[in-house]
Amino acid sequence: MTVSKVTYQNWRNIEQCEVQLRPGINVLWGNNAQGKSNILEGIYYFARGRSFRGAKDRELIRFGESFANAAIDFRKDGYTGDTRLMASIPLSGKKKLYRNGAALSSAAEMMGSFRAVLFCPSNLTIVTGGPAERRTFLDIAISQLSGAYLTWLRRYTKILTERNALIKRAKDGERVTVEEWAVYAEGLSECGAWIAAYRNEYVKMLSDAVGRYFQGMTGGREVPAMEYTSHALYDGIPMPLTSADVPDRTILCEKLMNNVEREVAAGVTLWGIHKDDVVLSLNGREARLYGSQGQQRSIVLSMKLAEAEIANRIGGEYPVILLDDVFSELDDSRRSYILDTLGSEGDNTRQIIITSCEPDVIPGHRAAYVCFNRVAEGGIHNEKSTFAPSDSGEVM
Ligand SMILES: Nc1ncnc2c1ncn2[C@@H]1O[C@H](COP(=O)(O)OP(=O)(O)O)[C@@H](O)[C@H]1O
Ligand SMILES: [Mg+2]
Repeated sequence: MTVSKVTYQNWRNIEQCEVQLRPGINVLWGNNAQGKSNILEGIYYFARGRSFRGAKDRELIRFGESFANAAIDFRKDGYTGDTRLMASIPLSGKKKLYRNGAALSSAAEMMGSFRAVLFCPSNLTIVTGGPAERRTFLDIAISQLSGAYLTWLRRYTKILTERNALIKRAKDGERVTVEEWAVYAEGLSECGAWIAAYRNEYVKMLSDAVGRYFQGMTGGREVPAMEYTSHALYDGIPMPLTSADVPDRTILCEKLMNNVEREVAAGVTLWGIHKDDVVLSLNGREARLYGSQGQQRSIVLSMKLAEAEIANRIGGEYPVILLDDVFSELDDSRRSYILDTLGSEGDNTRQIIITSCEPDVIPGHRAAYVCFNRVAEGGIHNEKSTFAPSDSGEVM
């Protein structure tokens, strides 16, 4: 998947701007607070239907203006024509989304057509934060690959909310029958077993890929491991992303049925996949507690690159990779290895868009693939040769 052009109007600090992008590596460089992240925010908006910074739509509108527009032209591998997605966000009223000029009814309808993986500094919490951060990473990644997963997740969340309300009423003295508890236990354990099975398989794939990246980056000095931990898992859990076996739900169901009293005392559902986690370790020690910041950053970056690799394996196409302000902080050997890996061409196109304060973030031999743009005051200024590394080939 390749983005060829993004256009912005009143988007954050960008009054009006068109950004041309190329296949391969693109670097957007410029001083702080010029609009680099705003540009990536605009691109990623079309993958997730919202800002990656958690901003509300209206916060995207340039101060003092009454609307923001953004549009992206991208091409799926193997297709000859571009697809255009457009978002029009008014200060009051509903946003409007379009695909090739035709109005879409919701962000959900837009999602799935343009795919991107984003890595920004705040993603470090995937390693350093609580289990919810890691579950969210998995949920977003797997939902992009499987509509069935998203359905299980939504059903689970709905039943969990209802069961928690029931637990509160039971705590307040309402009588709840065993049959009633059983209905919820059945529902939660069915959805939960599927969700755990998907996540478990996904983490296995992730772990393989991340292991390879680390082998390459550190020559085997740092060996990562990832393990999905869940109340719902048992030996021989199936692989729903790649096969169709039905997972066994009895383990989770029994846990729920056997612990109703404790849950009523606690006032909340204590067992289930909403408590699950992924343990990330490096050389046998938990990375959250013992990893250096550079190692933690390498783990998250590897997880994001692995996410793109798995999306290609299962979905048949690489998502666009957006790296916001994170690449320049890796040491030279890690940077070179990652570029070599990303640069080695398979059948499918890999496009990477990197933001940086430094123009020379890409080692010289990769310069031929680089489109240098300088971002200043919400606009793009193409710098064709000024900052090209001296030994480079043609700089696009
Ligand atoms: N809604 C908005 N309207 C105008 N300017 C904005 C808006 N939101 C953020 N900004 C400005 O955008 C700039 C930051 O842009 P950003 O893309 O984060 O910079 P960087 O180039 O460092 O990534 C800041 O100066 C900020 O004040
Ligand atoms: Mg930034």
